[in-house]
Amino acid sequence: MKFKRKILITGGAGFIGSHVVRLFVNTYPDYLIFNFDNLTYAGNLENLKDIETADNYRFEKGDITDALLVSDLFHQMQFDGVIHLAAESHVDRSIDNPMAFIHTNILGTVNLMNAAREIWADYQLNQRFYHISTDEVYGSLGETGLFTETTAYDPQSPYSASKASSDHFVRAYINTYKFPAIISNCSNNYGPNQFPEKLIPLFIHNIQNKKPLPVYGDGNYTRDWLYVEDHARAIDTIFHHGQRGETYNIGGHNEWKNIDLVRLLCRIMDEERGQAQGSAEQLITFVKDRPGHDKRYAIDAGKIKTELGWQPSLNFEEGLLLTVRWYLQNEIWLQNVTSGSYQTYYEKQYLNRF
Ligand code: NAD
Ligand code: TYD
Repeated sequence: MKFKRKILITGGAGFIGSHVVRLFVNTYPDYLIFNFDNLTYAGNLENLKDIETADNYRFEKGDITDALLVSDLFHQMQFDGVIHLAAESHVDRSIDNPMAFIHTNILGTVNLMNAAREIWADYQLNQRFYHISTDEVYGSLGETGLFTETTAYDPQSPYSASKASSDHFVRAYINTYKFPAIISNCSNNYGPNQFPEKLIPLFIHNIQNKKPLPVYGDGNYTRDWLYVEDHARAIDTIFHHGQRGETYNIGGHNEWKNIDLVRLLCRIMDEERGQAQGSAEQLITFVKDRPGHDKRYAIDAGKIKTELGWQPSLNFEEGLLLTVRWYLQNEIWLQNVTSGSYQTYYEKQYLNRF
């Protein structure tokens, strides 16, 4: 079959990437969707079981930091679009091992852009390199204010510094080579298939296993939460209708203090599991804070709404209920990803916090 477009999605076996791959495979049968992922601890092909035999889907295991491999792939496949999600993504891991973040998030991004430049000599109109980034590049907010697309970068963790650096390289390529790139910076995602090292799936897993819920510091840290399928829809919108060279902020207009979120999650878990109200809350344990913990993130998503017509479709209670139900119905998925090396990480990460 001759495909209208050939799109490379990096990191498509991860949390957000798998939702983006599914959306594109199902929505665009005339596009070839090529998932390139190194299957690190966070990559899981089980996330894509439902679409893995689709005619317009291919998977290849590979490392974006391998310049030769990436270059060969671009020459062989002649992609005309890239949606780049592959990254090391967890702040706590970046505190333990910054080098992996520098390597994958910075070098990997530059490798991909170099390979695209090799085959995109004349930058035709449909060619675009879409770099997926985070609101954490803007640093931490006080009690008020929102991040806009023009907020100055002020990353505070090794993770956010590596993502900020990759964003700077993308902008430098836009400016220097007229490289046809777009960037979006999104707030915290939640939903099915998120690896249980991040707050919401970790706490669901711990409640199921009657383990303590380790709330960092006093729990008064604020995040702006967006359901992952809403993010995937925003990525589709920006990929097709965003302006090359532009940046778009994506957010949920949905700020929650961690402790309030955890209490809501506990209430939903008790209801869904038929437990007495208050059972899960008893597991809340305040532990040693994350070093350099950012106080508050909140996004002004006005530009994407006004210019491209995107806005979140779910409120938080709806999204959280869907998420909890997914994890309760997919215990085997959770068991599979929490066995093995994850247990070692968990023990090391939380050993000195309690
Ligand atoms: P994730 O950790 O769940 O998935 C990352 C994927 O990248 C995994 O499948 C992993 O195998 C793959 N990968 C890692 N290193 C690789 C390498 N060297 N070569 C090829 N593949 C590699 O991450 P996520 O939460 O899905 O985040 C995806 C992207 O979205 C990241 O760029 C992240 O910075 C960004 N983002 C995430 C959030 C969030 O809340 N999770 C919010 C905003 C932006
Ligand atoms: P996380 O899901 O790691 O996302 P990010 O650090 O990228 O925002 O954490 C979300 C918030 O929850 C953050 O303020 C840290 C806090 N947190 C805890 O209190 N306990 C935990 O065990 C984890 C993983 C996070």
